[in-house]
Amino acid sequence: MVRFGLLGAAALMACSACTTVADAPAAPAPAFPAANAVSADARWPGVRSRVSQDPRIETRIEVLLRRMSLEEKVAQIIQPDISSITPEEYRQYRFGSILAGGNSSPGGNETAPAREWLALADRFWEASMDGPADRPRIPVMWGIDAVHGHANIVGATIFPQNIGLGATRNRDLIRRIGEVTALEMQVTGADWDFSPTLAVVRDDRWGRTYEGFSEDPEIVRDYAGAMVEGLQGRPGTAEFLAPGRVIATAKHFAGDGGTAGGRDQGDNPSTPAELRDIHGAGYPPAIEAGVQAIMASFSSVRGEKVHGSRELLTGIIREQMGFDGLVVGDWNAHGQVPGCTNSSCPQSINAGLDMFMAPDSWRELYRNTVSQVRSGEIPMARLDEAVRRILRVKLRAGLFERGRPSSRPYAGRFDLLGSAEHRAVARQAVRESLVLLKNQGSLLPLRPGSNVLVAGDGADNIAKQAGGWTISWQGTGVTNADFPNAQSIWAGIEETVRAGGGTATFSPEGRYTRRPDVAIVVFGENPYAEFVGDRQTLQFSPADRSHLELMRRLRSEGIPVVAVFLSGRPLWVNPEINASNAFVAAFLPGSEGGGIADLLFANRDGSVRHDFRGRLSYSWPRRADQTPLNRGDADYDPLFAYGYGLRYGQPGDLPALSEDLPAGAAAGNDGLIYGRSGLPSGWRFTLADQGGPAMPLIGNSGGTPSGRLRIAGVDRRAQEDARQLSWDGAGAATVQIEAAQPLDISREANGELSLVIDYRVDTAPAAPVAIGLGGVQLPVTGAFRGATGEWRTLAIPLSCFARAGVDMRQVSVPLSITTAGRFVLSISAARIASAQVPQNRCEQP
Ligand code: BGC
Ligand code: BGC
Repeated sequence: MVRFGLLGAAALMACSACTTVADAPAAPAPAFPAANAVSADARWPGVRSRVSQDPRIETRIEVLLRRMSLEEKVAQIIQPDISSITPEEYRQYRFGSILAGGNSSPGGNETAPAREWLALADRFWEASMDGPADRPRIPVMWGIDAVHGHANIVGATIFPQNIGLGATRNRDLIRRIGEVTALEMQVTGADWDFSPTLAVVRDDRWGRTYEGFSEDPEIVRDYAGAMVEGLQGRPGTAEFLAPGRVIATAKHFAGDGGTAGGRDQGDNPSTPAELRDIHGAGYPPAIEAGVQAIMASFSSVRGEKVHGSRELLTGIIREQMGFDGLVVGDWNAHGQVPGCTNSSCPQSINAGLDMFMAPDSWRELYRNTVSQVRSGEIPMARLDEAVRRILRVKLRAGLFERGRPSSRPYAGRFDLLGSAEHRAVARQAVRESLVLLKNQGSLLPLRPGSNVLVAGDGADNIAKQAGGWTISWQGTGVTNADFPNAQSIWAGIEETVRAGGGTATFSPEGRYTRRPDVAIVVFGENPYAEFVGDRQTLQFSPADRSHLELMRRLRSEGIPVVAVFLSGRPLWVNPEINASNAFVAAFLPGSEGGGIADLLFANRDGSVRHDFRGRLSYSWPRRADQTPLNRGDADYDPLFAYGYGLRYGQPGDLPALSEDLPAGAAAGNDGLIYGRSGLPSGWRFTLADQGGPAMPLIGNSGGTPSGRLRIAGVDRRAQEDARQLSWDGAGAATVQIEAAQPLDISREANGELSLVIDYRVDTAPAAPVAIGLGGVQLPVTGAFRGATGEWRTLAIPLSCFARAGVDMRQVSVPLSITTAGRFVLSISAARIASAQVPQNRCEQP
């Protein structure tokens, strides 16, 4: 990735002015917005938590509350992110909590060693316990997304993502996974896990499908308590929130898995009864098992943002279910409530939120919240209640007594990260989570003494088998070297075959010299997280389709093919199923690639070593446009039904499946602005001389009226798959891409995505060059002054445009390029994507 510089000093000044405007306190809204979320006919059950209130804790809370100043109370309800606050800054406020988001790490180093995580936890803890002698000492609470093991940390055990755990139908195993995760978290001093996700996922186009256990409430209901008990320990026993345990979070309340179209952070149109019975199914058992935190969802319910809904956050969570722990917000999600900004949102607190997740917005948010309490816009009683719940959780977790993170039991026991015992649990989970969909002629299990060819880009790629929320937020930008305690699928096969007296050869492209007895092809989705994974259809349609060609070729050469499919959801893979003799849905198995060989290979004598036991927890589509598709649908017609999964010995032949795509179902490649196949439909290029009209480009080539700027097709990987822009230097001219409809890319901007451009400088620029989005242009000349004739990638964080004043909810022109001097530039792709860009890098270096 090329480093680049953007804003000059003038632009930066303009930018800070914009921040002031955008973050001005919202106009006062009624303290309790009218309820529209749930009506009386859908009351939620009253729940009896197995954690009862302890009078000694309650007394301590009241004593503390009496001593705390208004500012200290407000500080408790704000949670900054470690990438946007230093321990020194933190010390001035002593906030109630701190989080390490998916992209955050000590010193900004994603692969920082575990000991640096622990050292940083100490520094924040020390800062929280500092301050004038007469002030109360309230320890910080460190939160992190250990959503499939403590997978942010290099060397940790990485469990299958929840979609795979759903297939195991083994709640004891879920509890055990919670225990191991908690223990590994304690090694690095983390107190609080943002897990389990209790989404009941109804539309698999959602980018977070893999974070949910199932499309059906039954599994979510069954697992919720087990995962909570694993993480926190069983209530009423000595293990409850004892050393080695962490605070759990049920998320994202409510209805995150039911948004229309599977759109992340979208709107859930469910009826009140569906919200309770389908999407809410996991909450009563989680509360009963003593979960201490609930995270509010980014999404809305019937048009109302959850973060502003008193009916949901207070009515249902407190008054109906009787939850007495804390409700935490999601990443700046309060800023999406109408009338709110990231740095001002009394509506959320008044609705019942107890803690703002305010990664980078904490400073202004703190200031505004203090003044809103002073003015009475936030009632003091509501603030006290929020603080009371936060202190209750801290006291129950023993944080006041535990001491500095590194002094606690298990802290610094780095040998526990990815220990043999923990990895054995993860490997068992892999074995139990794989689902066998096809086994023609009982090809599987394979004899370990065979000559095996292993192919495909997923075979030796641990990041791909782990998925999102692994080391980095998107799970990208890492290599096998970043996984010291993991095994790739290939390495597991190699080990098994060698032990069985056979030979295994790895060739990503499926080449061989000695004809193999069988080929195992491992392929699938590349990692993604959250909205970056939202799709328009369920077609598996990677840009690179070589896996399919190689499967077909091997079959035509008479070599039987075993397909191992890595994915965060069921996808339409009929061509791949047809091209293979056996097909295994492996989901995202995590660090233990060896678990796959455990199932694929028999004992030396041919007897079964480990049978398949995984059963689909999501229905598998027959067509690419078949979504939503859920067990219980009136016209339920899946290719493989919920609960499907072959065992050895069962007939596993399938007839040839239709490979026809429904009309108009070409997979929309989300985030793409311009690519190999041109512009998305309805979009257009326009060209303009400075001061002149913008002329749409008809066909592949053309120019502005004066001819100063010309555009033509050029070849990068294929014929005319890129465009070349030539400015002749006679005056300023602009090329721009106009979307068919204004785009709402506010969530992409909030998630720190970038405008990413693949380009080649053919002639270096003679004058400054600016790249625009949404009407604001930023100087990028530096990036184009490097070597000419070489394909490179440029990434400009969307936040740079947002800070310069672009309204990210209404972007009609996602890309423009302007210069006045001579310049020749080729572009092969432009997209909105996650890129490894140093944070807040808008300045010229
Ligand atoms: C996600 C949450 C996560 C939080 C902190 C959000 O964007 O929606 O699931 O816990 O960030 O990383
Ligand atoms: C994620 C965070 C992540 C951030 C990216 C959020 O939406 O949930 O955990 O670090 O975006 O910068």
